[in-house]
Amino acid sequence: MKNIPLILMGCGGVGRQLLQHMVSCRSLHAKLGIHLRVVGVCDSKSLVVASDVFSMELGDEILLEVCRVKLDGSSLLTLSGSGEFQVFANSEIPKRIIDIAALLGKSTGLAFVDCSASSETIGVLNRVVDLGCCIVLANKKPLTSTMEDYDKLVSYPRRIRHESTVGAGLPVIASLNRIISCGDPVHRIIGSLSGTLGYVMSEVEDGKPLSQVVKSAKSLGYTEPDPRDDLGGMDVARKALILARLLGRRINLDSIKIESLYPEEMGSSVMSTEEFLGNAISLLDKNIQERVHKASLNGNVLRYVCVIEGSRCEVGIQELPKNSPLGRLRGSDNVLGIYSRCYNEQPLVIQGAGAGNDTTASGVLADILDIQDLFP
Ligand SMILES: NC(=O)c1ccc[n+]([C@@H]2O[C@H](COP(=O)([O-])OP(=O)(O)OC[C@H]3O[C@@H](n4cnc5c(N)ncnc54)[C@H](OP(=O)(O)O)[C@@H]3O)[C@@H](O)[C@H]2O)c1
Ligand SMILES: *[C@@H]1O[C@H](CO)[C@@H](O)[C@H](O)[C@H]1NC(C)=O
Repeated sequence: MKNIPLILMGCGGVGRQLLQHMVSCRSLHAKLGIHLRVVGVCDSKSLVVASDVFSMELGDEILLEVCRVKLDGSSLLTLSGSGEFQVFANSEIPKRIIDIAALLGKSTGLAFVDCSASSETIGVLNRVVDLGCCIVLANKKPLTSTMEDYDKLVSYPRRIRHESTVGAGLPVIASLNRIISCGDPVHRIIGSLSGTLGYVMSEVEDGKPLSQVVKSAKSLGYTEPDPRDDLGGMDVARKALILARLLGRRINLDSIKIESLYPEEMGSSVMSTEEFLGNAISLLDKNIQERVHKASLNGNVLRYVCVIEGSRCEVGIQELPKNSPLGRLRGSDNVLGIYSRCYNEQPLVIQGAGAGNDTTASGVLADILDIQDLFP
């Protein structure tokens, strides 16, 4: 049986789903000759670690207890340490984690799985790369920081996987890597990579006012608690940056042109979410409606897309033919078209659900299994 020791950072919607998947896949993984040995789990303030990281693990009972505690909104500190595990708080965490990485990285191997939504994990990730550890990310922030951080993280390309950073579980990164590694030059990528904005754009196409569409998207749970986090385009820009860097562009987030669907005067430093949704957003309805109408006169539709082509890397609204992979898109699906020498007239199109805890966590789990050959 091959053992894959791992540490999970972040037990929010995705991290918890991942723990649940790992527990429920035990017998499937045993048939594949693999055992995922969770030696540590942390959230923003605490770290739970097996008492002996060489020989012990956090058993399934403990992992499910971690999920219950976090779902309750409590801290991992409420888990009373037994003989099996210890719990550490805040200031001790980075040192503890580096110690474990130094112990296991080059002996048994160790995978760091980042399901947090924080840029604070970058420091630890940078360190453990040199200690022989593997990295699996759902978190986009480490890959969208400085070029220096990026170079560090990808310095051992076989030891990093980050499929779920773009399009959740969709095989976007793997497909691009296959095209790139055989020397087929990618000259254009166009994608709709936000489930929320995909939904919003296809609903306004049907004539519904933007304000109403955003409110129903929020109540359906499609948006962040503050929908401006989706409407501003930053999350899509991070995905665009990850794709552009994969293609070899040495650029930063601030060189990406981002169109926000709301003006600065309606920003979160100016008004609350309630004020934005209550009054302000309806002032944006007319303009969008006019743009939708104008596009339809040309047989086109509006989509919120990311485009990477030549030196261009931008995210925003574009007018696209109704009868194109992106124009046909409905609802909250993601779609990505990749144009290269081999996929020139007929792009490679990847489409499907591009969000959700379940799909995202499945993508992370598949990434972990994908690096199994690196473990003794
Ligand atoms: N949900 C999706 O559909 C989806 C799709 C693709 C990618 N993603 C990405 O997946 C990641 C996780 O998403 P989510 O929805 O699960 O987020 P979430 O519910 O906000 O959970 C984030 C978790 O990370 C923890 N955390 C924060 N700072 C940390 C730190 N410094 N070290 C360790 N853990 C830390 C939080 O701890 P506390 O509990 O203490 O606050 C929380 O448990 C995000 O980066 C997101 O962009 C999500
Ligand atoms: C994902 O998990 C979060 C946190 O538990 C939850 O609020 C959200 O509704 C979940 N999303 C979906 C689509 O199930």
